[in-house]
Amino acid sequence: MQAYTARAHTNIALLKYWGKANEQLIIPTTSSISLTLDEFYTDTTVVFDQHLNEDAVFLNDAPLTGKGYKKITDFLDIVRQLAGISTKAHVQSTNHVPTAAGLASSASAFSALAGAASKAAGLDLSLADLSRLARRGSGSASRSIYGGFVEWERGTDDTTSVAHPLQEVVDWDIQLLTVIINDQPKKVDSRGGMQHALQTSPFYQNWVDATNAATVDMKTAIENHDFQKIGSLAEQNALQMHATNMTATPPFTYLTDNSWAVIQLAAQLRSKGIEVYATMDAGPNVKLISHISDYHEIVLALQSVLPDVETVAATPGPGLVVVAGDEI
Ligand code: ADP
Ligand code: DP6
Ligand code: CO
Repeated sequence: MQAYTARAHTNIALLKYWGKANEQLIIPTTSSISLTLDEFYTDTTVVFDQHLNEDAVFLNDAPLTGKGYKKITDFLDIVRQLAGISTKAHVQSTNHVPTAAGLASSASAFSALAGAASKAAGLDLSLADLSRLARRGSGSASRSIYGGFVEWERGTDDTTSVAHPLQEVVDWDIQLLTVIINDQPKKVDSRGGMQHALQTSPFYQNWVDATNAATVDMKTAIENHDFQKIGSLAEQNALQMHATNMTATPPFTYLTDNSWAVIQLAAQLRSKGIEVYATMDAGPNVKLISHISDYHEIVLALQSVLPDVETVAATPGPGLVVVAGDEI
């Protein structure tokens, strides 16, 4: 059978997905809105091979085992079921993003896998169906099918819980300056973290209500290129999400002292008239929503707080690309 290779970029949520209404189908408790990034992506090649007795999965040239392997074989089972085949697959994936560090590797990974595996299995899915499929691997992956600003509508079932683009071409001045505080895998994965917050934080419902209330405002702000509104809504939503973790039983947090130093720096810069807002996911790394034109000033300020910290300036990136063969 023909091999296919896909490239999908990561996306960072401006309004977060943090909790599942249906764990098996990955239906979220809220809609979420994200920006796909150009600098971080995953390349994945899939071929279904009659000679294999089990799926062979390689991530960054090392065989994937355990829980990570099971996530991929479970996902391939969904693809096989859709295609009406039982053949096992060879999967080779390369992350151009730190894995499991809160930089959305699962989003680019399962978006790329949905694209490559569905084509390799002989399916020809629409972008909406690819989004639904990617969602089954990792919720945030539903949004990485598209470039630019994307909304994943919560929905109520497999058909209605799907992402769609809000603004695919972003031709105005916005960047996500990623401050790499720790690129090593986190201890509590996103899946476990959000489940724990949902089940035990008395503030969880407040977070759902606040996210729902912010959704229309965020969409209007994106439409109007209203940078300040996008940034302030995003920062507030991120802090509200992290508050559900800190108020869980037992409490936990992904944020470190250095994360807080960067969050505080963003506030200081704002007081000096530089528009910069912070958002954080399931990891200590902070993404600074800022203007490309302020890059040097922000990096200089960062160096005074965290001298050797690595930064990656990411701008809006494209949607999923799938090609025949094993090169992209
Ligand atoms: P992140 O913040 O990076 O999205 P998650 O906890 O959501 O972290 O997901 C990380 C997990 O996603 C990894 O432990 C691994 O199981 C899976 N993953 C990430 N990238 C890949 C990949 N390219 N191929 C297969 N699985 C991947
Ligand atoms: C904080 O999509 O990684 O990045 O669906 O369990 O795989 P699973 O979780 P995942 O969660 C992402 C959480 C987040 C917010 C977001 O991307 O919306
Ligand atoms: Co993830």
